[in-house]
Amino acid sequence: MSAAPRILVTGASGRLGRLLLPRLLARGAHVRALTRQHALAPAWRDQGVEAAIGDFGDADALRRALDGSTHLFLLSPITPTLATEQIAVIEAAAAAGVRRIVKLSGSHWTLEPPGRSLSGDAHAQIEASLHRSGIAHRVLRPNAWLQVMLARVPAELAAGDVLQAPPGDPQVAFIDARDIADVAVEALYESTAESGDASAPWVLTGAEAVGYREIARIAARITGRPIAAVPLSAQAQRERIAQAPSPYIAEVHAQFARLIGAGEAAGTTDTVTQVLGRPPRTVAAYLDELLAPKTAP
Ligand SMILES: NC(=O)c1ccc[n+]([C@@H]2O[C@H](COP(=O)([O-])OP(=O)(O)OC[C@H]3O[C@@H](n4cnc5c(N)ncnc54)[C@H](OP(=O)(O)O)[C@@H]3O)[C@@H](O)[C@H]2O)c1
Repeated sequence: MSAAPRILVTGASGRLGRLLLPRLLARGAHVRALTRQHALAPAWRDQGVEAAIGDFGDADALRRALDGSTHLFLLSPITPTLATEQIAVIEAAAAAGVRRIVKLSGSHWTLEPPGRSLSGDAHAQIEASLHRSGIAHRVLRPNAWLQVMLARVPAELAAGDVLQAPPGDPQVAFIDARDIADVAVEALYESTAESGDASAPWVLTGAEAVGYREIARIAARITGRPIAAVPLSAQAQRERIAQAPSPYIAEVHAQFARLIGAGEAAGTTDTVTQVLGRPPRTVAAYLDELLAPKTAP
């Protein structure tokens, strides 16, 4: 790539987007980040990120945000408007002359075969719109993120030596969100000539599938405590899912729980290693960061 790319990052203040910003700056990109939160602009400016204030639903704000951008990283949260909002961003990107788009999609097993989850079907609709756009692109389909699925482990272990596991102890090839961000940078910098079959998504997973009994064993080794994984009853899992912020999200989470329980999230790929030239971060390394006693500096 000759001149430094001018990249608009959407979802920039979220779990993944905030990992992407420093990585793109370190690569020398010009980074603009879309947010609805005016308060983020000063700190971003200090880091070298230009804030574009706006909402996916505001066509003028999208036009301003995309003006002069050569690249787009497309991410938004799971909501009933996921597909309409992201398709509007793709159309605005085409009008602005954006040359390359990297889309953060759903986990592979939520999209295929069609009809298995509301969010997977929405992501599939967006992927189809991206293919139709004619803009060079790469779709990333990451598996379940460690930072989402296991973030509650420290709080659970603060309350006792019990880790709450989904019914049936399903195996999951969790991926570290930092690996997704590392891959996203490479996907943004991929040249169209290198990218080959752009219709093939990059399916991103950890190197191995791990169950909650194994997670409890790792946590026990790190903490020196007798930690056990105790499966939730199906009823307790339903009650947990019902606490979701909306009935729509509860339905999506119930669909994910069914698919994960059926072992659908256990498959692995070597895409992270192929793209980054190193293996994915491991569950054990992540748990070590969360749980190992910290020594004073
Ligand atoms: N978690 C997993 O295991 C997993 C696995 C596979 C795929 N995914 C995909 O990951 C995505 C979620 O990523 P995440 O967890 O990083 O998101 P997140 O932390 O929920 O962050 C959401 C971001 O979207 C922005 N946003 C929300 N509504 C907006 C609007 N109307 N206009 C403009 N910006 C808006 C927010 O920006 P402001 O608040 O700053 O405006 C924020 O930066 C979903 O598409 C999901 O399908 C997740």
